[in-house]
Amino acid sequence: MSVAGKTVLITGASRGIGATLAEEFARAGAKVVLSARTAGVQALAERLRAAGQAAEALTGDVTDDAQAKALLQLCRAKFGGLDVLVNNAGVLVPGKLGMVRMEDARRMFEVNVLAVINLTQYAIRLFPKGKGGSIVNLASIAGTQGVDGLAAYGASKAALVGFTRAAAKELAPQKIRVNAVAPGFVETDMTRQFPAEVVTRTVAGVRLGRIGQPADVARAVIFLASDDAAYITGQILGVDGSMAC
Ligand SMILES: NC(=O)c1ccc[n+]([C@@H]2O[C@H](COP(=O)([O-])OP(=O)(O)OC[C@H]3O[C@@H](n4cnc5c(N)ncnc54)[C@H](OP(=O)(O)O)[C@@H]3O)[C@@H](O)[C@H]2O)c1
Repeated sequence: MSVAGKTVLITGASRGIGATLAEEFARAGAKVVLSARTAGVQALAERLRAAGQAAEALTGDVTDDAQAKALLQLCRAKFGGLDVLVNNAGVLVPGKLGMVRMEDARRMFEVNVLAVINLTQYAIRLFPKGKGGSIVNLASIAGTQGVDGLAAYGASKAALVGFTRAAAKELAPQKIRVNAVAPGFVETDMTRQFPAEVVTRTVAGVRLGRIGQPADVARAVIFLASDDAAYITGQILGVDGSMAC
């Protein structure tokens, strides 16, 4: 897919879907700028550079405005600009209604929604004038369908869906496309936190018969980011193996 030569900023790239996104974008010839709070993101960038790929990393919290600005500065300083933003960093604190702690709900909205709005505002200023760019957000089946036990997380992801659709309309005249993927149940640290019986029951409800892998999601993100999706914007692409919920 045509992402070769593009500069791609990926948040939450220290592990899980974000780390796979970094590897797959780099393998496809993109220049990647990676962000996360922990040092794993630096180690990943070093590994990619050792393999001859173009990669930079910055450690910090995506909810921190200074980190958002610094990320865009890094894109400009190292690669001369930005073509693709992947808003992947996310947090999930499960909890039945009645058990949801407001501090957890607030944190999910800060990371999953407000940080995305903030970083997007900076990113669109850096996309090449006249040529535009592409933004891909990591939504969730919890935001598009509603999942029992994930009301607060699902609310944050539904907000992200609303943001994606509105931003696509607003930014289309600048040739900036905005789409989202909505994964179902993907094997990462995020889903490893669930009890084994929840995992077994959830995967049993996936009609394609298996848990999702980060690469399943990465392929969809790269397609939406690429020139192959040049006429696609404002879409929420489910990547869930037809999961019951
Ligand atoms: N796994 C699933 O089944 C699934 C399903 C639907 C949607 N999603 C969405 O897909 C995205 C990736 O999920 P995942 O499963 O790969 O999650 P994960 O394994 O928990 O990884 C989350 C990533 O986000 C980073 N992160 C979290 N909070 C951050 C913050 N405040 N600032 C900077 N980075 C932060 C983490 O890095 P550090 O800890 O190093 O900061 C990590 O790299 C998320 O948006 C998630 O909501 C996942």
